[in-house]
Amino acid sequence: MSNSNIVTFSIIIPTYNESENILRLISEIEKNLPTSDFTEIVIVDDDSPDGTGKLVENYINQQNNKNQKEVGAKTANCKVKIVHRTGKTGLIPAIMDGVKQSSGRTVIVMDADFSHPPEVIPKMMLESKMNPNSIIIGSRYVEGGKVVGWPKKRKLLSSGASFLARVGLNVRRVKDPMSGLFALPRELIENISIDTKGYKILLEILVKNKEIPTKEIPFTFIDRRSGKSKMDNGVILNYAKAIWQLYRHGQKSGHVTIDEKVNKGSVLFLSKVGRYYTVGISGLIINYLVSFLLANDVANSIRLLSNVWYLEASIIGAAISLTSNFFFNKYWTFEDRRFDLGSTAKQYASFIGMSAIGLIIQIAILYFMVENFVPYRISLIVAITVATTINFILIKKFTFKEKVWA
Ligand code: GDD
Ligand code: MN
Repeated sequence: MSNSNIVTFSIIIPTYNESENILRLISEIEKNLPTSDFTEIVIVDDDSPDGTGKLVENYINQQNNKNQKEVGAKTANCKVKIVHRTGKTGLIPAIMDGVKQSSGRTVIVMDADFSHPPEVIPKMMLESKMNPNSIIIGSRYVEGGKVVGWPKKRKLLSSGASFLARVGLNVRRVKDPMSGLFALPRELIENISIDTKGYKILLEILVKNKEIPTKEIPFTFIDRRSGKSKMDNGVILNYAKAIWQLYRHGQKSGHVTIDEKVNKGSVLFLSKVGRYYTVGISGLIINYLVSFLLANDVANSIRLLSNVWYLEASIIGAAISLTSNFFFNKYWTFEDRRFDLGSTAKQYASFIGMSAIGLIIQIAILYFMVENFVPYRISLIVAITVATTINFILIKKFTFKEKVWA
């Protein structure tokens, strides 16, 4: 094999305890490779206790011997490399090491456990050749893609996390930003400074390169058949941290390109949601305090501030908290500091109307779920969350006349 070949593709495959998969995967990839380009397969192993690294090492030596014996054998269009790392420091650092130790113009990242079927690799290569400056993503969530073998809980977790990322971090243009299968130009991944720990390197690249075109190729993600997943609570925690860091990144970057402006919009959206919920909680407290202090306490007949029938007291409490919610939201959440009587009164009426709609939605969802045998406590959480979020959007759009995403 000559080393003068210019490497077109580097396929980076991080491994930790993948001895049952890795050699079979390498041979499947090789079988499917197009002959026109030179590809290197870079296995990045974190000193796997099951000997994955050694296995690959032996395989490479065997191949080298074979090539030396067969003089005049047709030039291989593929070479396997192994990068040994000394400690298990996570997926992202492993990938970055693989990138450093490779030279292909295009970098492809994939899992070792056959979750990413080797047959999609040629498709990704073709696509990447047609769009050399794009990020090509193997996608589970575009038409034609799917997930096989995940339990309901993991599916829910994944789509929830994707939704959070897409909306919260403004990568809505990509359906599967959490995919572990993607191809991109080397400069892109080399020059990015990775701040987060954990699994989702593509997400970070997408958040920090909003202007790079993307293209999603559908594929069927098959849960691993051999070996164990490294996904655990630590990984989930790191994901939560990563989202937070990337979110802060969005808040801090003060550039004024159009993309950044859009980005800022969704960041504002999130922080306004946060304020809205905070105001909501303050409303609960005010509601409780007013209802409590106004009522003549029936049980203990302690007279606190006044002597109102408890049901009346509670209605007054609700009304006052609704009003305080309105003013806090106007002043703080939506930063609307105009207080002339006419428009304020109109906003106030609209606010109450929207709150009533929210209440109706909440009751409707609750009724529907409970009637369909979802436990009451779960139905309540879903109903309240959905209703208050819809409420927020309605108030944002119709009461304070803001764009939903600004
Ligand atoms: N070198 C190294 N070091 N490799 C690792 C490490 C590590 O610390 N942790 C995991 N890997 C390797 C695994 O050997 C496998 O090849 C790949 O990274 C993915 O790990 P899995 O344990 O199979 O992850 P998963 O299937 O739960 O999660 C995946 O699902 C995502 C899709 O939602 C990850 O594979 C993502 O890449 C993928 O996007
Ligand atoms: Mn896996």
